[in-house]
Amino acid sequence: MTTWTPETWKQYSAKQQPEWPDTAEVEAVLKDLAGRPPLVFAGEARTLQERLGAVCRGEALLLQAGDCAESFDANSADSIRDKLKVILQMAVALMYSTGMPVVKVGRIAGQFAKPRSSDTETIDDVELPSFRGHIVNDVGFSADSRVADPARLLQAYNQSASTLNLLRAFTQGGFANLNRVHAWNQEFVAASPAGERYGQIADGITEALMFMKACGVDPDHHPSLHEVEFYTSHEALLLGYEQALTRLDTLTDTWYDCSAHMLWIGERTRELDGAHLEFLRGVQNPLGCKLGPTATPEEALAICEKLNPERIEGRLTLITRFGADKIADGLPPLLEAVRDSGHPVVWASDPMHGNTFTAPSGRKTRHLDAVMAELNGFFDAHAAAGTWAGGIHVELTGDDVTECLGGAAELTDDDLAVRYETMCDPRLNAAQSLDLAFLVAERLRDNNG
Ligand code: PEP
Ligand code: CO
Repeated sequence: MTTWTPETWKQYSAKQQPEWPDTAEVEAVLKDLAGRPPLVFAGEARTLQERLGAVCRGEALLLQAGDCAESFDANSADSIRDKLKVILQMAVALMYSTGMPVVKVGRIAGQFAKPRSSDTETIDDVELPSFRGHIVNDVGFSADSRVADPARLLQAYNQSASTLNLLRAFTQGGFANLNRVHAWNQEFVAASPAGERYGQIADGITEALMFMKACGVDPDHHPSLHEVEFYTSHEALLLGYEQALTRLDTLTDTWYDCSAHMLWIGERTRELDGAHLEFLRGVQNPLGCKLGPTATPEEALAICEKLNPERIEGRLTLITRFGADKIADGLPPLLEAVRDSGHPVVWASDPMHGNTFTAPSGRKTRHLDAVMAELNGFFDAHAAAGTWAGGIHVELTGDDVTECLGGAAELTDDDLAVRYETMCDPRLNAAQSLDLAFLVAERLRDNNG
């Protein structure tokens, strides 16, 4: 392959980039960003890659979860804390049921840029540029809101830094202590069947900790009991922004994209000769790539070769997102081709993006039954291929929103209006997320039992 530098991607065609009205202004902002501190460190990204290596070998699980699109308007400490709570709860459900470590990666602290199926949106004969995430423009349907504003790149960096700062405090400073496992169960979740089930697990953990203490093991002296490793990730969509945060690691003399620990390539930008693959092949962070129903086995293999030519375990996660009705036919050929090639990959299921539809009310939604059906299809296909179904990738929030249908509360289209807050795709609420974690835990136990 040709020589890589942080800007060789510019020689390729880059899809889904905004049209900035003033290129000089963008260049000035990117130059400013390039001089700012990295958000994450190369060593942390290397540790994550090691952890993902364990997932790749079938020794651990990957839980990647968070917002579809983070918002500049909803970034309170409470909302960050509640998202973390539900991810920690899901991890506990998975760990307790499977006895395996769970690698926790948030779609957070940088998940601002959105790819769109159309460049423009038309309402009542008015056509405006599409909303591309708060890092580019605003969601309101007015010409002003939809102008791409380079100042937003800086705001995204700043918000990522403050979110990451709080996450580091929460995960290292006692909030994630296993002694507090009950406190992560928010009231509205605790009242749901999954929340009750979680409560029983939390009781079991509390008793086990008391027993360990009685034996002379003081949890305060064991970081793994009172701290949590939590990593950040987002779709590496805006290549100018990603390049500006890419730094040479002096320890290894290699490049890392220090905007997040893990970066992924979306379904709409994964073409083999495109700028996104070119950029990401050169940074040493662990990478993800979405694969939807149009992906062929040949494409999957070419992606593996391009992004992970040295076949490093944990370097590449393939995130499949077929749709419940397509996974049974679509996934097996990919699993078999990659398995037979010997390429080490983490396989993760995104059961959300292939199951989105517009409800009669006009709201974009997903039914929990379809989400679960795709997960079941994922586990069935892996069981048949003898490959490790190691990861899940979901869009969720810690709030009691009504964006996805179904679940124990049996939300219907009429309920969507009650609390529909997403700027982009519908997210699972905390109770639905926990439901999903228990389903995954059961399937993992069955697949391996
Ligand atoms: C996303 O993860 O929010 C997304 C846009 O997914 P995909 O690229 O799989 O459509
Ligand atoms: Co989404």
